[in-house]
Amino acid sequence: MSDLICIGFDEEGKKRVKTACDFLLIDQEFYKGSDVLFETEGLAQPRCVLISAVNIEKKEDIVNKVQVIRQVFPETFIVLIAEKKIKPEDAKFVKKSGCNYVILEPDFLYTTRLEYILLQVVCAAYVPVKVSDFKPNTTVDFSVYTIMTLNKKILPVIQAGTVLSDARLAKLSTVSELYVKRNQVDMYTDYVTKNKDLSAKGLANRCRAEFQSVALAHANLVFLLTDQAEAGSFDQGKILLENCQNLAKNLLETLTMLPDPWEVLSQSTFGMIGGTERSIMIAAMAAVASFNTMLGSPEETMLAGLFCDLALLELSPKSLGKLDSAEGRLQLKDEDIAVFKNHPVTSLNRMLENKMQISDSVKNIIVCTHEQADKKGFPKHIMPDKIPPESALILFHEMVDLEFRMKLGAERESYPVVRKRVFDREDAMIRAKTARFSGVVIEKLRKMIAEQSAGQ
Ligand SMILES: [Fe+2]
Repeated sequence: MSDLICIGFDEEGKKRVKTACDFLLIDQEFYKGSDVLFETEGLAQPRCVLISAVNIEKKEDIVNKVQVIRQVFPETFIVLIAEKKIKPEDAKFVKKSGCNYVILEPDFLYTTRLEYILLQVVCAAYVPVKVSDFKPNTTVDFSVYTIMTLNKKILPVIQAGTVLSDARLAKLSTVSELYVKRNQVDMYTDYVTKNKDLSAKGLANRCRAEFQSVALAHANLVFLLTDQAEAGSFDQGKILLENCQNLAKNLLETLTMLPDPWEVLSQSTFGMIGGTERSIMIAAMAAVASFNTMLGSPEETMLAGLFCDLALLELSPKSLGKLDSAEGRLQLKDEDIAVFKNHPVTSLNRMLENKMQISDSVKNIIVCTHEQADKKGFPKHIMPDKIPPESALILFHEMVDLEFRMKLGAERESYPVVRKRVFDREDAMIRAKTARFSGVVIEKLRKMIAEQSAGQ
């Protein structure tokens, strides 16, 4: 059975789901109704079920559809596609009946929110861990899994509640890939933090775990900010933002202790659609640079970096794959160019609409993340001396990330190599008096890069 089950879609809806699945390499199965699905042999709990309620008018009928699926699949992530005209209170009512996310039909058809959700709940349903994370004579309260090479099936190798004896750990070290469920990643992070290992390797492991916790907290907040049934869930938003901020602070602390934070971070990311999900890597590297250069506030850099690309989820499916390179960005369709050129402001607006409590300086950093010293940035072309250094650091690290991720795979270059090349290019521009960054930012980055390469 596939990881993704789709119920009740018309031809247009099917086409839309297939675009997303082809892009993310996800297998999917379509069923007219749940009765046909439940008759399938070898029925197993899928990672995600999409239910289309586009032509269903009565909310009771929609609730019924959701509840039937929820009863059979208690742990599956259920997404409901609802008619544009559904009343907000009905959307909330439907969500309470057991679905995890409600998306309106136009957003489903014409934005890349679907890709984001599938990436988070299907592709990243499990996160990689290492055998060195586990210590003898400890108990884990989460399960650990491996993937069978033959059929790609995920199997548990350690059940929650197991005491890890030396023999069990020895056996575990023979398994090549280990995973934990992403929704249990906080338990795993707690375990790694509690069983503190002060060696360099232990620190790197803790950093990987903390990164995964931030990634999950970030995704949960993005879900809340974009879920149509959550409009007005301000209290919950406040809690999620505080949680995300605290986890990000812990991560930043650990990152600044590591000699090579990029190595740890680049092993932890799973971003594939080039938008919001890359934000964590960029935010973290920009925040570390802020710490090392003493430019701006590292915490504010991190927070702004996490949310400045929120509105990229409003780009159309035609933008898929185009955000991953500078050339691709030039090929965006007109309607997407408008969304792209305004995304720093729209991202901030999405946060404010949801009454997110962020400081004026963080707001300003977010809207300036694409402003440049040569005034050729966007959206406001503000005076160079008005660009916060935190915004410049986010832009610089986004440029590095863009080049870094282009060569994922065989010919992959190291992060410091890519960063030095981007730096040299921007440095040459300053000498040619066409600088995208201010002299202060360039000089501070030069010093940081020189110090780090001397320390390698
Ligand atoms: Fe951006």
